[in-house]
Amino acid sequence: MDKLLITGGIPLSGEIRISGAKNAALPILAATLLAETSSYVNNVPHLQDVTTMMNLLGRMGVELIVDEKLNIQADSNRVHTFAAPYELVKTMRASVLVLGPLLARFGEAHVSLPGGCAIGSRPVNLHIQGLTAMGADIQVENGYISAKAKRLHGAKIFMDLVTVTGTENLMMAATLAEGTTILENAAREPEVIDLAKCLISMGAKIEGVGSDTLHIEGVEKLSGTHYSILPDRIETGTYLVAAAMTGGHIKLKDTDPSLLDAVLQKLTEIGAYITTGDSWIELDMRGQRPQAVDIYTSPYPAFPTDMQAQFTALNSIADGVATITETVFENRFMHALELQRMGAKIRLEGNMAIIKGVPRLQAAPVMATDLRASASLVLAGLVADGDTVIERIYHIDRGYERIEEKLSQLGAKIRRIRY
Ligand code: EPU
Repeated sequence: MDKLLITGGIPLSGEIRISGAKNAALPILAATLLAETSSYVNNVPHLQDVTTMMNLLGRMGVELIVDEKLNIQADSNRVHTFAAPYELVKTMRASVLVLGPLLARFGEAHVSLPGGCAIGSRPVNLHIQGLTAMGADIQVENGYISAKAKRLHGAKIFMDLVTVTGTENLMMAATLAEGTTILENAAREPEVIDLAKCLISMGAKIEGVGSDTLHIEGVEKLSGTHYSILPDRIETGTYLVAAAMTGGHIKLKDTDPSLLDAVLQKLTEIGAYITTGDSWIELDMRGQRPQAVDIYTSPYPAFPTDMQAQFTALNSIADGVATITETVFENRFMHALELQRMGAKIRLEGNMAIIKGVPRLQAAPVMATDLRASASLVLAGLVADGDTVIERIYHIDRGYERIEEKLSQLGAKIRRIRY
């Protein structure tokens, strides 16, 4: 298993480009199952999770052609297997995103139940309830969701909790259902909006995009599309925090500052000087130590849970005391325990972390436990005294394209040790 070796202490400087968003690429690739002609998807990030989704679609019979820039052509006209097996779902929960499209287009789906996860129990009951309301006959047995429907029908569905992939699954299913589906308390994350725009470009009729109530009028069929994935706001935020923690000055290109209001607000509070254009963000920390900042995670447009671990790392070296409250996932503080091993002063109380910033962290061997937790350890390594070795970095490769190359481009001393 590969490891990352990071020598801390260098302020980041320079420019890099941001990749397409993982959490938009995954549902959009799943959505190609709905179209009767080929779809062309651009700006797809080169990530392990994207490879997993392509493997899954390929096994079902989707014909995929990938060029050297990872533009993907997908043709789902010869799909022969309507299943997502446990061996793939256990490596990527987002595999459950094929459930809605398979059921809506082919009337059948056999998808492994995603099990527990390092950040919380993450059930999919709302996906199942919504599809059942749309007329699907669903059995959960032997660890699988087995669903059948002649043709789904429209329904009014109120989701108890804001769920990103739940909204995406039901929205995709509703595009081909008979009649109108109303999804209330829908997620408004930019990636959900990107999927909606992609579906509309395929011929879907969706109103209310960007609000918490979606009206989807089912159509008989959808056709292929050309679609370019939006920039990854979490990758963007992670590099901004890296620059802020190291007292650096960086410019990120091919991104979209309008997706990061809550994060940019917090970076301004810690003392960063930020300038933006339509597709770039520049952050200048002017060599200062960050000020501590309180964080409260919630669904978009509030502060994203996917940036919580990175701000935990930042607060570990900030001036002052900060509290971080995690309201989306019940167990998303595994990184705190690893950061403590690097000298961070973090106290956990239920869903809250209380952090007293220390002037310096010390290098230590640490272990990645999930994607964003791993990112926080990389950030800590960038400022720690000495050489930090991070194990189990396959978690990072699931969601950050060429992280060591991009950080090296910004002057960091980081390298991958291959085993
Ligand atoms: N929930 C339920 N029942 C459901 C669905 C969700 O109780 O049927 C709960 C979850 O347990 C959680 C909350 O609702 O407590 C929100 O979960 P959500 O369904 O929104 O999460 P998700 O769709 O599984 C996506 C992202 C995550 C991101 C969350 C929250 C993708 C592929 N994944 O997960 O991304 O943290 O939304 O924004 O879009 C990551 O990229 O590192 C990552 C974990």
